[in-house]
Amino acid sequence: MADKGHFSFDGVQLPFLQGQTILQAAADAGHYIPHLCYRPEFPPHGSCKLCSVKANGKFTSACFEPVTEGMKVESETPEIQGYRKRVVQMLFAEGNHYCPFCQQSGNCKLQAVAYHLGMEDTHYAHQYPRRQLDASHPDAMIDYDRCILCELCVRASRDVDHKQVFGVAGRGIEARLLVNSPSGLLGDSRFSITDAAAQVCPVGAIVPKKAAFAVPIGQRRYDTHDIGEELACPPSENKGD
Ligand code: SF4
Ligand code: FES
Repeated sequence: MADKGHFSFDGVQLPFLQGQTILQAAADAGHYIPHLCYRPEFPPHGSCKLCSVKANGKFTSACFEPVTEGMKVESETPEIQGYRKRVVQMLFAEGNHYCPFCQQSGNCKLQAVAYHLGMEDTHYAHQYPRRQLDASHPDAMIDYDRCILCELCVRASRDVDHKQVFGVAGRGIEARLLVNSPSGLLGDSRFSITDAAAQVCPVGAIVPKKAAFAVPIGQRRYDTHDIGEELACPPSENKGD
């Protein structure tokens, strides 16, 4: 592949390959940068802003920004961790994320980064959205109030499943996840529980039916380890989830 260079990451010199983003180079060197809308198998989307770092003194998204020789990246400073905490608090406030009642509790990335960042309250006034829950499919349901519009399901359905079941319409606060079917319901779409799109939701928005407590609370993914340990594994094992 490409030439190697070096950059500074929180004062430590790390190697990178030409063309790598800050997030990829940091992960390859065993450093976790919080993220929600990024997975390594899909093109970056840059919507959640959780991966924000300072590169040469300017805020940027680590999942998008290419590393350059000698770049100075700050990630774990109190300022940046505080910013990330505010992003997560905003996501909690604009959806309905009641962790004790959600079957995804313990497996949810939003919940896990909140723990990782030491979030103890949601800071912002809650919006309490009331969107329709779609339980029309025999094997999965969608709780739109928990969708963080990361578009991972959109990318998985389009790029891996080649079905284009999901899309996002509208902008800003009006943006909504839509299902591509005559009725707009998942049960009338081409979605299958074996689709890649069924596996990627980082929160409890697209969840399988009949499998909610197959793994008991207390033994789930983030009950047993901090999400920050996930990208501190060898790149070959790094699936980004
Ligand atoms: S349903 Fe899940 S994967 Fe799809 S956009 Fe919403 S949060 Fe992301
Ligand atoms: S992970 Fe980079 S913006 Fe979401």
